[in-house]
Amino acid sequence: LREHEEFTKVKNIAKIELGRYEIDTWYFSPFPPEYNDSVKQLYFCEFCLNFMKRKEQLQRHMRKCDLKHPPGDEIYRNGTLSMFEVDGKKNKVYGQNLCYLAKLFLDHKTLYYDVDLFLFYILCECDDRGCHMVGYFSKEKHSEESYNLACILTLPPYQRKGYGKFLIAFSYELSKKEGKVGTPERPLSDLGLLSYRGYWTRVLLEILKKHKSNISIKELSDMTAIKADDILSTLQSLDLIQYRKGQHAICADPKVLDRHLKAAGRGGLEVDVSKLIWTPYK
Ligand code: ACO
Ligand code: ZN
Repeated sequence: LREHEEFTKVKNIAKIELGRYEIDTWYFSPFPPEYNDSVKQLYFCEFCLNFMKRKEQLQRHMRKCDLKHPPGDEIYRNGTLSMFEVDGKKNKVYGQNLCYLAKLFLDHKTLYYDVDLFLFYILCECDDRGCHMVGYFSKEKHSEESYNLACILTLPPYQRKGYGKFLIAFSYELSKKEGKVGTPERPLSDLGLLSYRGYWTRVLLEILKKHKSNISIKELSDMTAIKADDILSTLQSLDLIQYRKGQHAICADPKVLDRHLKAAGRGGLEVDVSKLIWTPYK
């Protein structure tokens, strides 16, 4: 019951201002009490993510805030697109602010008060005014369950442009560098599942096409860092798995692959791994 109450809490903040956008929120987020009573809109500094109740406070803040990008290391840059890695332990307030902000668009995720245990990967579009956050994902520094992503968000003004798939692809590139397989933390939202299904489908179909299906699930997993369970469920949903002699076997006619590939739509923004400068967290 408690949990249910938590999930169905009434939306407290209706709207936020962030950079050049006014954004309608989707869900409740547990902002400290002084922000909850009768405040319907919050004003965020788009760089340090501090939030305020009044526009004038934000304007005053912007005159003295000297951040022009997230407070961490830039680990990827390709044209105007950058990724920053922020350590929740070194930048606690930023991590907490980001969680408050993200919860406004995430339904069934609980808020992490313990941001120390997470790394945050912030995707930005950069111009001469600074690096503007488009979306992010969080990742536990050490995951027992081989999670390579805890929460993912594309801010609403940037959704459906391929940034979500970019973030997902990026999370798997980090796993490849770690030499581990990964999977997103469950439960997934409807939009999360759609995005993951789309990513898994495209990646797997392209490899199957190249290898003419002569490949095992284990080999696919080694190549992509996608967990075997996720590969199996994706291929099953595409009807590409047969169960023979107690074993799962991939069986895909090239024509069937082509049909699925066409249906899988556009690939989204590519991650150019040659532009990723990163070593795993120790
Ligand atoms: N309606 C239908 N399909 C959609 C929609 C939508 N509104 N949004 C995304 N999709 C599907 C499509 O299949 C799309 O691929 P396509 O455009 O090639 O058809 C695919 O998802 C991915 O689209 P992207 O543009 O790459 O993803 P986007 O930048 O919109 O981000 C994300 C996807 C992160 C899930 C975004 O919708 C979001 O932030 N949602 C709110 C937060 C959330 O639910 N996060 C996931 C929670 S689960 C977890 O965190 C582990
Ligand atoms: Zn600021």
